[in-house]
Amino acid sequence: MTTFIAVLYIIAFSLFIYGLMGLTGPRTAVRGNWIAAVGMAIAVIATLLLPGMGNWWLIALGLVIGTVVGVPAARRVKMTAMPQMVALFNGVGGGAVALIAWVEFRTTDGYAHEPLYVAIASLFAAIVGSVSFWGSNVAFGKLQELLPGKPITLGKAQQPLNILLVLAAVVLAVVIAAGGSSDWLIIGLLIAAALVGVMVVLPIGGADMPVVISLLNAFTGLSAAAMGLALDNTALIVAGMIVGASGSILTNLMAKAMNRSIPAIVAGGFGGGGASGGGGAGGGEDRPVRSTSAADAAIQMAYASRVMVVPGYGMAVAQAQHAVREMADLLEGKGIEVLYAIHPVAGRMPGHMNVLLAEADVPYESLKEMDESNSQFPQTDVALVIGANDVTNPAAQTDPSSPIYGMPILNVTSSRSVIVLKRSMSSGFAGIENELFFDPKTAMLFGDAKSSVSEIVEELKGI
Ligand code: TAP
Repeated sequence: MTTFIAVLYIIAFSLFIYGLMGLTGPRTAVRGNWIAAVGMAIAVIATLLLPGMGNWWLIALGLVIGTVVGVPAARRVKMTAMPQMVALFNGVGGGAVALIAWVEFRTTDGYAHEPLYVAIASLFAAIVGSVSFWGSNVAFGKLQELLPGKPITLGKAQQPLNILLVLAAVVLAVVIAAGGSSDWLIIGLLIAAALVGVMVVLPIGGADMPVVISLLNAFTGLSAAAMGLALDNTALIVAGMIVGASGSILTNLMAKAMNRSIPAIVAGGFGGGGASGGGGAGGGEDRPVRSTSAADAAIQMAYASRVMVVPGYGMAVAQAQHAVREMADLLEGKGIEVLYAIHPVAGRMPGHMNVLLAEADVPYESLKEMDESNSQFPQTDVALVIGANDVTNPAAQTDPSSPIYGMPILNVTSSRSVIVLKRSMSSGFAGIENELFFDPKTAMLFGDAKSSVSEIVEELKGI
C-alpha cells in the first residue's frame, strides 16, 4: 500500500508541474488548470489512503462544505472580482495550515515529545499561516471595497508596533519549542501573527496591492510546505513548495514591474503617503477637458498609420474586448496597424489584459509589453486608452508625493494623439487624479467602454 500511495503522489506531482507549465500562456492555461486539478484530486485520494486515517464522516463533511462553497463561488465570480477571490481562497489555505498546527500542538501535548525540527516547522507554519490568513482577509476587504482602499496607518507607531508583534510571536514560539504546552501559548502566538497580517496589509494602498497578494500567496505555500515537513507528508511539502516558489517569483516580477522593493512595501513605505492630488473617486475637478465623439474618434483612427490600444481595468468591467477586436479588424482592413500596449499590472490580476484579449482571439503577436510599447508610442498616431487610468498616469514620473511615484507607466503622450475612453473623471484603483486627461493632446470619449467602442465600429463601417 505504501508503494501504491507513493506512486500516486509521484503521478500527482508530475501533473502539478505539467499543469503549471500550461499556465504560462493564455491558450494552454485552461487545460493546465484542469491537469493540475486532476493532480490535486489524486493527491487527496492518496492522502485518504494513508494508514491511520479516520473520522470519515468529518472528512466527508469537510469535502461537502468545501465543494458547496467553492464550486459555485468559482463558477459565478466575475472576472473583475477574481483577485479578491484569489486573496480569499489563498487566505483559507493559510488559515487551514495554522489550524492544523494548533491541532498537532494539542495532540502531541505541545510538541514536547516531538523532535525539535517538527516543533520548529510547525511553529513556523502556525505563524506564517496565520499572517497569510488574516492578511489575505484584509486584502479581500480592500479589493471588495468593504474596507477603505487607501492606506490605513498608525503613522510613526506603525513600524515599532509591527516589530513588537513579530517579536511576541517569536518569543511565544521559543517558549513552546522549549516545552511550553499551555493552550494559551499557541493561541497567543496565533493572535500575534494574525495582528501582524492585519497590520502589515492595512497600510498598503494604491497600486501596491497586487504585489502584496502574490506575497501572501507565497506565504501560504511556504507555511503548507513547513507543515508537510512536520507531518512528514510529501504531498504537502511538494505542493507547498510549488506555491511558495511560484508565488515568490511572481512577487519579484510584480515588484520589479512596479519599481518597488518588497521590504519597503511590507514596511508600509510605499503607497503610504495617501492619495496626492486629492482626486478621489468623485474626481470633482473643475478644469476643462477636451471631449470628443465616437464619430470623430473613428475618423481620427481611420486616417492613422498606427493605432495603439491601451487596455485597462475599465475594458474588463465593460467586457469590451470583443468590440475592440471588431474595431481592430476594421482598421486593419483599411491597412492600419493595430497594436496593444500591455502594462504588467493593468486590470486587477497578473495577465488580466492578456486573458481578455486572448478570449477575443486578438493575435498574441500584436500584444506588446510595456518596454516595447513605450518605444513604439513615438511612431503611433493614436493611443486609444480603453478604461486604463493609473497605468498611464504621469504622476508616477513627475510627482514624488504621489503614492504611485516610481511605478513605470505607459508613456501614451509620446504618441501623436491620445483618446481616453471612460465614463467620467473618476480616479482609478490608486484613487488619484490623472494629469493625462488634461493634456492638450488628449481627447476624452465619455461613456461605457463597450458602448463607445461599438459606436466607433459603426462609424468605421461608414467610412
Ligand atoms: P484603474 O487605474 O483602476 O482605472 C480603471 C478606469 O476604468 C477607471 O478610472 C474607470 O473610470 C474606468 N472604467 C471602469 N468601468 C468602466 C467602463 N464600464 N467603461 C469605461 N471605463 C470604465 O485601471 P488600470 O489603469 O488598469 O490600473 C490598474 C490598477 O489596479 C493599478 O493601480 C494596479 O496597481 C491595481 N491593481 C492591479 C492588480 C493587477 S495584478 N493587475 C491587482 C490589484 C490592483 P470611470 O469610472 O470614469 O469609468
